[in-house]
Amino acid sequence: MKRAMAEQRRTALVVLFLALVASPLVSSQDVDTSGTLPKPFATSAPKNFADFTSEFSVYWGPDHIYTTPDQMLDLTLTNSSGAGFASRRNFIYGRINMNLKLVGGDSSGTVTTYYLTSFGQYHDELDFEFLGNQSGQPYILQTNVFANGVGEREQRIFLWFDPSADFHSYSVLWNKKQIVFFVDGVPIRVFKNNEALGMPYLNKQPMGVYSSIWNGDTWATQGGRIKINWDYAPFVATFQNYNYDACEWLTNTTVPACAAPGVTNWWDAPAYDELTPAQVNELRKVQQQYTVYDYCTDTKRNPVAPVECAGNL
Ligand SMILES: *[C@@H]1O[C@H](CO)[C@@H](O)[C@H](O)[C@H]1NC(C)=O
Ligand SMILES: *[C@@H]1O[C@H](CO)[C@@H](O)[C@H](O)[C@H]1NC(C)=O
Ligand SMILES: *[C@@H]1O[C@H](CO)[C@@H](O)[C@H](O)[C@H]1NC(C)=O
Repeated sequence: MKRAMAEQRRTALVVLFLALVASPLVSSQDVDTSGTLPKPFATSAPKNFADFTSEFSVYWGPDHIYTTPDQMLDLTLTNSSGAGFASRRNFIYGRINMNLKLVGGDSSGTVTTYYLTSFGQYHDELDFEFLGNQSGQPYILQTNVFANGVGEREQRIFLWFDPSADFHSYSVLWNKKQIVFFVDGVPIRVFKNNEALGMPYLNKQPMGVYSSIWNGDTWATQGGRIKINWDYAPFVATFQNYNYDACEWLTNTTVPACAAPGVTNWWDAPAYDELTPAQVNELRKVQQQYTVYDYCTDTKRNPVAPVECAGNL
């Protein structure tokens, strides 16, 4: 059984690898101008098809993290610990992708995260947080943006698929004009540079890439009413296809260098300054059909919608 699964995974990975090698690098040519849906972030070949062991270090629960020779990584949660890993590299601007297959069955109370964060005071952060649920009930994907140390910008959506049934791609495009969260290449959230309106933007420091699984049963599932059922432990989330095409932060890196349009900095091309009309339609559809919660429309919390809301679609 185990062997068959490993074999299946290996085959899938070889197919994936071939597909990646065979497809062209991301370029502005991938940007759609004809009105059909562009998905440059899900389907293009990554610049770096990255190996978990060399790219990440464990920051929590070393005995709850397993890498496999076929480039997958399992994070597990039991009643003794969760687990987390952190990238060795840090970036400012570019595209970062991870494929995740979430805890299946009864995942109530579990929270699986995949996020970018800076370090120290006034930190910046971009979050994907997957809130588990009872068997057959839908996960929630919560996203959040911290800029200059301030967060409280939660949005929650249902997904249009079961994220525990298979791997799906979760990416971020980050440049000096906008940050876009993608699910399988579909934009689900935009955070624009609204410095002109006095809103801080994430343009001063690099961020690293993190993931974790932990017990969030005081709040995660149906407002915390549904707790983790430890009979189903260990809870396992699997990661695959971590890749990035981004400006790496080295000792000699400067922010302007990563924000200068050029052959390598494709994300600074005007084509990526804003969503295409087709992407705007996709985003609207997600907002209309899948939104569960939006801090922008939570009038109890924000009697006046924060200034960035109007511009962020
Ligand atoms: C944790 O789970 C193990 C295995 O199911 C069980 O033996 C142990 O009693 C549990 N510990 C606590 C503190 O619940
Ligand atoms: C879990 O399922 C319930 C019932 O369908 C739903 O109200 C809730 O939003 C779902 N997700 C979470 C994380 O609670
Ligand atoms: C920065 O340092 C790296 C090696 O650490 C080097 O490859 C690169 O050329 C340097 N870049 C600049 C602009 O000096």
